[in-house]
Amino acid sequence: MDSRQRMSRLDRLRALAGSMSRQRRKPNPAHAIPAEDCDLTSKTIVLTGGTDGMGRAAVDIFCEMGAKVVLLGRNEAKAKPIVDELGPSVEFVHCDLSSLASVRRAATQVLSDHPSIDALVNNAGINAGERQVTEEGFEVHWVVNYLGPFLLTSLLLDRVIASAPARIVNVSSAMEVFGHVHFDDLQLERDFSTGKAYSQAKLALNMFTLDLSRRLEGSGVTAYALNPGFIKTNLLRDTKGSLSFGNVMMRLFASPPVVGADRIVRLAVSSAYEGVSGQFIYEDEARPPNKEALDGEIVERLMEVSRASAGVEG
Ligand SMILES: NC(=O)c1ccc[n+]([C@@H]2O[C@H](COP(=O)([O-])OP(=O)(O)OC[C@H]3O[C@@H](n4cnc5c(N)ncnc54)[C@H](OP(=O)(O)O)[C@@H]3O)[C@@H](O)[C@H]2O)c1
Repeated sequence: MDSRQRMSRLDRLRALAGSMSRQRRKPNPAHAIPAEDCDLTSKTIVLTGGTDGMGRAAVDIFCEMGAKVVLLGRNEAKAKPIVDELGPSVEFVHCDLSSLASVRRAATQVLSDHPSIDALVNNAGINAGERQVTEEGFEVHWVVNYLGPFLLTSLLLDRVIASAPARIVNVSSAMEVFGHVHFDDLQLERDFSTGKAYSQAKLALNMFTLDLSRRLEGSGVTAYALNPGFIKTNLLRDTKGSLSFGNVMMRLFASPPVVGADRIVRLAVSSAYEGVSGQFIYEDEARPPNKEALDGEIVERLMEVSRASAGVEG
């Protein structure tokens, strides 16, 4: 056998990746949305991060089901072809989650234009690959992945409650398990790594979900945190060093965006999740979150700190 006939290591990796992704190419039919939950005519879904990745795929699914999608994004030029393609089913509202002022403006616009919000999907997220500080003084992973969605949800909450039955879906990550809330250094000024910043923010999002579900008990609004799975998107494009290995693995082995999008849509509409508010849905099944999220005192402390830094009344 000459060298041309021998499979190179790269080809073997490609073959392995191909066989794995073949199994993962489609949403799991065992978790299909019941037919009676599929008609979203006259429903309004407010969703962040609909311009790329699994959020973009979720916009298509929601629109196919008849919903009106209010797409909150930071990049109008990227949203324009989506609005052009999907027509009046999609409305773009500028919302840069790295700026609390922008989040406030977006919430004001949504409240003035939309009398009901049947589901709020906090999907947008970043992995910036380095420490960046916003003009308002927040570490960017903290504000985009947690504090911005915290503020957005808080500002829209009364409208969501008035629209009950309604849902809040917070797109978290399996990385939350490595998270710890560093109350003495939330912006990670002293000891930063991208992994630490990302997992802290996703853990905080899970804690917020638990707090929401407790506060919303009996209101008809349910809240969920979701690990959407390992999905091939642009999320890790800016990663460096050891994390860039994650990007390579993502390119080779991750599932296509529609698989994550399907999980997002299911949580937003399927009656299968009615009784499990507050749960961390890990791909398709509920799983206990990081133990820190189950400590009521830590969650309450985080909520106090978050309200103070986002300027939300208690
Ligand atoms: N991919 C995975 O394997 C994976 C695994 C676990 C969890 N997640 C989570 O899944 C969610 C979706 O991520 P993805 O994988 O689909 O990534 P993606 O393709 O990079 O999409 C991220 C979306 O978030 C938006 N976004 C980023 N920063 C923003 C900001 N400052 N303001 C407003 N929008 C902003 C992006 O907008 P632009 O289009 O303007 O960039 C984009 O629409 C994230 O919360 C992520 O943490 C992903």
